[in-house]
Amino acid sequence: MLLSLCTYFLWLSISDLWTVQAKDPDTDVSTRSPHRDLAPNNVDFAFILYRHLVASAPGRNVFISPVSISMALAMLSLGSCGHTRVQLLQGLGFNLTNISEAEIHQGFKHLHHLFEKESDTMLEMVMGNALFLDHSLELLESFSADTKHYYELEALATDFKDGAGASRQINEYIKNKTQGKIVDLISKLDSSAMLILVNYIFFKGTWEQPFNPGSTREENFYVNETTVVRVPMMVQSGPVKYFQDPVLSCQLVQLEYTGNETVFFVLPEEGKMDTVITALSRDTIQRWSESLTMGQVNLSIPKVTISGAYNLRTILGAMGIADFLSKEADFSGIAREPQLTLSEVIHKAVLQLDEKGLEGADSPRVMLHTAPEPLTFRFNRPFIVMIFNHFTWSSLFLGKVVNPT
Ligand SMILES: *[C@@H]1O[C@H](CO)[C@@H](O)[C@H](O)[C@H]1NC(C)=O
Ligand SMILES: *[C@@H]1O[C@H](CO)[C@@H](O)[C@H](O)[C@H]1NC(C)=O
Ligand SMILES: *[C@@H]1O[C@H](CO)[C@@H](O)[C@H](O)[C@H]1NC(C)=O
Ligand SMILES: *[C@@H]1O[C@H](CO)[C@@H](O)[C@H](O)[C@H]1NC(C)=O
Ligand SMILES: *[C@@H]1O[C@H](CO)[C@@H](O)[C@H](O)[C@H]1NC(C)=O
Ligand SMILES: *[C@@H]1O[C@H](CO)[C@@H](O)[C@H](O)[C@H]1NC(C)=O
Repeated sequence: MLLSLCTYFLWLSISDLWTVQAKDPDTDVSTRSPHRDLAPNNVDFAFILYRHLVASAPGRNVFISPVSISMALAMLSLGSCGHTRVQLLQGLGFNLTNISEAEIHQGFKHLHHLFEKESDTMLEMVMGNALFLDHSLELLESFSADTKHYYELEALATDFKDGAGASRQINEYIKNKTQGKIVDLISKLDSSAMLILVNYIFFKGTWEQPFNPGSTREENFYVNETTVVRVPMMVQSGPVKYFQDPVLSCQLVQLEYTGNETVFFVLPEEGKMDTVITALSRDTIQRWSESLTMGQVNLSIPKVTISGAYNLRTILGAMGIADFLSKEADFSGIAREPQLTLSEVIHKAVLQLDEKGLEGADSPRVMLHTAPEPLTFRFNRPFIVMIFNHFTWSSLFLGKVVNPT
């Protein structure tokens, strides 16, 4: 009873999210709260970026943490000037007539703080940014102070002339920060590198309803017409929120982690992956949230670690979002150095999916007496995974899993 009530409220809160947003974030000031101010911009940016990555990597996995990327780029705007700065913030979806730069940074500071608080208590999550800059460069005091104040950025002096040593330093730093969860971030460095920003996030949640580890079995995963791989498949059978979407030809389930995270697993029918991805938006998520119903489901999900690593400089350049790739790029706010160029902005996101749930939750779950034959949802072919934080309305992860191995 208590659980279903809780679930009901969680559902309300996420469906609320999109309802309020879909109207106008600005019409009713009383519904605005500081931890959600950036949400509509960030979520729209998340889907735009995700679609771009999917389009540029056909047939491959895509996995990002959009909110973490938004945060890193907003931080970077503190070191950029003139046109680059405006372009960067507009590229992130902010309309600078509506929201001031100070409000943007304050908003991210607040988000960062909330995530840290939750990582300390409810889940295994590490997120952060690190700036590696060549010995010969001197960070500007204002950049150093602002990025520390709003984003807790750590800046580390690096000897980029020693390429192997610099890679080792970066990899070891990130490995240490993520307690060994993210290793070998960089394999080789461009010898002309002077400045590298690394944005990293690792996440492993605790299910409200755990999977039974004893039921996990190796099964086939159908990557495409010609490729089948074996993956450990977790199963649970019981009441789950699900929806079969006739409009977009997909099935989906929504599972809850303890804390403020909620996950959508979306399984498009064969050949419909692109249709679903094209349709992903705040409106679609809202429609799904309103359509989900609780029912008996026999659910199989791969027990895998999903990760993605990207050079954001190239990607954003290709999206036309900032003059990242052009000589016009102005990052003179970072360090005292004429012609300073940003060598790379690396993003790495890792999500570990396993059976682990709340201690004491019943596992496996009891079927209701009158339960009909359960529906079967098997995520054994390419699927979409989305993790939202419904307190801040943040898009924590977006992924397209084509081949989980
Ligand atoms: C930004 O907001 C202003 C004021 O609401 C509006 O006039 C303008 O068209 C918006 N700009 C963009 C690019 O949406
Ligand atoms: C904020 O910007 C959007 C477009 O970017 C515009 O539609 C909206 O009216 C603006 N709101 C305010 C209060 O300026
Ligand atoms: C990370 O570095 C700190 C300080 O250098 C050290 O105390 C700690 O043991 C390291 N942790 C790991 C997992 O390597
Ligand atoms: C199927 O997937 C495999 C492994 O990812 C890939 O090498 C192959 O090109 C794919 N085939 C088709 C037809 O997409
Ligand atoms: C959601 O996050 C807020 C802010 O950190 C926190 O106060 C609240 O307890 C969290 N909710 C749950 C269910 O953990
Ligand atoms: C769920 O599905 C699996 C594999 O499809 C099957 O082995 C298992 O018996 C089913 N469980 C229930 C409770 O229907």
